[in-house]
Amino acid sequence: MLIRPSSVNESDTTLEVRGLPSHIGIIMDGNGRWAQLRGLDRSVGHREGSAAVRRIVRATRRLGIKALTVYAFSEQNWERPELEVSALMRLLEDYLLSEREELLDTGIRLQAIGNLGRLPRFVRAVLDPLRSDTARNDEMTLTLALSYGGREEIATAAQDLARDVLSGRIRADEITPDALRVRMPSLAVGDPDLVIRTGGEQRISNFLLYGLAYAELVFSDKLWPDFSAHDLYTAIAAYQRRERRYGKVGRTATFAPPPNDAPSS
Ligand code: FPP
Repeated sequence: MLIRPSSVNESDTTLEVRGLPSHIGIIMDGNGRWAQLRGLDRSVGHREGSAAVRRIVRATRRLGIKALTVYAFSEQNWERPELEVSALMRLLEDYLLSEREELLDTGIRLQAIGNLGRLPRFVRAVLDPLRSDTARNDEMTLTLALSYGGREEIATAAQDLARDVLSGRIRADEITPDALRVRMPSLAVGDPDLVIRTGGEQRISNFLLYGLAYAELVFSDKLWPDFSAHDLYTAIAAYQRRERRYGKVGRTATFAPPPNDAPSS
């Protein structure tokens, strides 16, 4: 059952349900360090990271937030050692198999963005049916960014536009920011309102670059496997305290009259 009261109280965080972000993006960083701190293999950190994904998807859904995009594997992550990459791919398969029922039961639509053609066949074999079986769900959209890169997504949208110009479907001078936006799968659920990065680093690492234009950024020192529903609420509460101005002036801006001796023009 969805909780939609005027406020949600979980441990010591009270969250106003008014003014929630519609779309949250998460850069899930810190799995490797979490494992290394315990003398464990990095793959153990990824497995704990997978449990954190489950926890945060549930918490996001409970709040009634419509879209969550998680950075599960970047286009650049293929450069990691082969053993780590294959552990991550197996974890992804396990996650998709184990979450299938819950996604279907709770009305979550599963999407994937990125260069999906690079994923191993065994991942596609569970990912593709789950995408189509959940396609009509509308409580929340969970997007997995897989083999994803923000620059690559912009380049693909630009190629698409170039083809449309060549075929005469659109004129070059009709290319607007929106013409690019509609060609970006990551923004089909709207721009991210809030992007959270865990793991203590303060950078964007090629995530949702185009959509980030006016996103609020929250950085958490927690390593991803330790990130809890409480931490999510804390990040959302920080978002709610921000004033989003989109380049305009704020609500509290004041305008002083020009001084009397200002030269008239
Ligand atoms: C970055 O941490 C994390 C990743 C590259 C993978 C994220 C994967 C998961 C959270 C689990 C699998 C995903 C799903 C959707 C089931 P890092 O390894 O770079 O950490 P470090 O900076 O501490 O080394």
